[in-house]
Amino acid sequence: MTEVTTKKADNQLIDRFGRTVNYIRLSVTDRCDLRCVYCMPEKMKFVPRTQLLTLEEMEQISRSFIKLGVDKIRITGGEPLVRRNILQLFNKLGEIEALRDLTLTTNGTQLKKYARPLRDAGVTRINISLDTLKADRFQAMTRIGDLKQTVEGLDAAIACGFEQIKINSVVMKNYNYDEVENLVRFCIDRGIDISFIEEMPLGENAHHDRAATYCSSDDILSDLQQHYEIIPTTEKTAGPTRYYKLGEHPDSRIGFISPHSHNFCDSCNRVRLTAEGLLLLCLGQEHSVDLRHIVRANPGDRDILEQAIIDSMQIKPKGHDFDLNSQEILLRHMNLTGG
Ligand code: GTP
Ligand code: 5AD
Ligand code: SF4
Repeated sequence: MTEVTTKKADNQLIDRFGRTVNYIRLSVTDRCDLRCVYCMPEKMKFVPRTQLLTLEEMEQISRSFIKLGVDKIRITGGEPLVRRNILQLFNKLGEIEALRDLTLTTNGTQLKKYARPLRDAGVTRINISLDTLKADRFQAMTRIGDLKQTVEGLDAAIACGFEQIKINSVVMKNYNYDEVENLVRFCIDRGIDISFIEEMPLGENAHHDRAATYCSSDDILSDLQQHYEIIPTTEKTAGPTRYYKLGEHPDSRIGFISPHSHNFCDSCNRVRLTAEGLLLLCLGQEHSVDLRHIVRANPGDRDILEQAIIDSMQIKPKGHDFDLNSQEILLRHMNLTGG
């Protein structure tokens, strides 16, 4: 028994294509206090709370992943900070020495209250979604949000001294494309990073025509080159972002997440756990393993859980095949998947 456990601890999670998985994205809730137009419909039906993993189960599954070689966890949602008692999970994960990077993706609405305790728990880096700096647009794009609340949350996080704060902006033509330079300026003023994201076709979306609003990272880059000296770098954060430096502004970097124009599946190092406990092997495919079932059917049995995780590597697909023009769109919305 001990021998098997030790052997597993030495192993890495390696899939059929030779990619090592050292990063999990944990969606702790599908609920959110905003309704961003690219993420979910206005009347979103959320998963009943009884179907969600408990925080203890999330910790247990995280520990198994860490034992198998994962050293980076990103907590996502939905909006992670609306999950009741969520600090409990951050505190538990923050105590695990082998976890090198404990990160969070949030919409920022709750950060005024949570930034300090998150820092104290050991969160290293935070990504905050912010697509526009115009209050009326912010309300339109999030359907219910208040720009001031998010910016105050962001500033509270900056004051706590995290290793990295990054803005995420999903850029769409006719929505916020004209604000790209202002968003960069906003980040330079605060000494933080920004990623521009191409919208992905997750979940049915009657709100806008995704092909018509599509905005490629290359378009944004060439616009920004009119204003800044932009220098490519090889810097990585274990995620898909391609980073550039800004010649005269060393404290801020610009990143691009370009699932359409610069596919990054070859270097994929991550898997996702939904709030219901479904292990998703790819953001853009349905291949999955029901870890909630495994954990509940075998209480306390770490070996069975670890073996299921190791076996899951055999069904990790080569990559997504997002097509903005196709009718075949994943029915899973982003808030379920955790980005
Ligand atoms: P790091 O992983 O720490 O570098 O952060 P990140 O910027 O990748 O994470 P974040 O949660 O802020 O996600 C930003 C965007 O990247 C979201 O739109 C995610 O859906 C997208 N993203 C992250 N990982 C993947 C992936 O494996 N495939 C695709 N297609 N998109 C991804
Ligand atoms: N395409 C691309 N990014 C999305 N996000 C939410 N929905 C989508 C989508 N359909 C982004 C959010 C957040 C991150 C987790 O994912 O803006 O920053
Ligand atoms: Fe909420 Fe994030 Fe989805 Fe916006 S993108 S609705 S903030 S989960």
